[in-house]
Amino acid sequence: MRQLIAGNWKMHGLSAALSEIETVAETAVASAPNADILICPPATLVSRAAQAAAGRIAIGGQDCHPEPQGAFTGDISAEMLRDAGASAVIVGHSERRQYYGEDSALVAAKARAAWRAGLLAIICIGETESQRNLGDHLNVCASQLTDSVPQEARVANTAIAYEPVWAIGTGKTATPDDIAAMHAHIRECLVGRVGEQARGIRILYGGSVKPGNAREILRTPEVGGALVGGASLSAPEFQAIFSEASP
Ligand code: 13P
Repeated sequence: MRQLIAGNWKMHGLSAALSEIETVAETAVASAPNADILICPPATLVSRAAQAAAGRIAIGGQDCHPEPQGAFTGDISAEMLRDAGASAVIVGHSERRQYYGEDSALVAAKARAAWRAGLLAIICIGETESQRNLGDHLNVCASQLTDSVPQEARVANTAIAYEPVWAIGTGKTATPDDIAAMHAHIRECLVGRVGEQARGIRILYGGSVKPGNAREILRTPEVGGALVGGASLSAPEFQAIFSEASP
């Protein structure tokens, strides 16, 4: 399984940041020949990012609307992302769930929209700190997975990102044992939902992945890659992470 190392720039990045993408694109194949590298910049940069990447790394969106077009002021469809040069889109990020009230049914509709447009859907799930403290994390993630991942999910069109909310932007990471246990649980839920072929679907870990912990995380069983926030904004930091991808 080729690991997928994806950067989520969130609401960061003006034109000047395109040079980071150029630098990453120049070094990606040499530093991580066996990994897939993706950067998801803000929508305003997708088209120019795709040009800067020149096919050497993939470019993705951070969200999409379920419909292909329509009267949805301010929204962007999966087809528009594809047209701008994206090959992937993140759906159901916890920040979308938390700040925009997105529920798992909407996330599933967005995943279907991604597939309709020919994009890889990176479907995010993850528990809050209080859910983990209550010991509910496995159940919470199982039900998010069941409700957010349509049964048509396949190796080629889907990756799952497990991002514990309490680890995002906090500098705290789940321990390798916790990550391994959760990813194994997600794997079994996924197989139950879409069948044996789900064994090949990549499950990424996200939440304070940094150069200093990337190696340990990327060597953890059942980790099919990483979804990196803050550390993906700087080419050298992101490169230090993806150069630790499994050979
Ligand atoms: P950080 O890497 O900044 O914690 O963000 C993780 C994340 O939310 C990626 O989608």
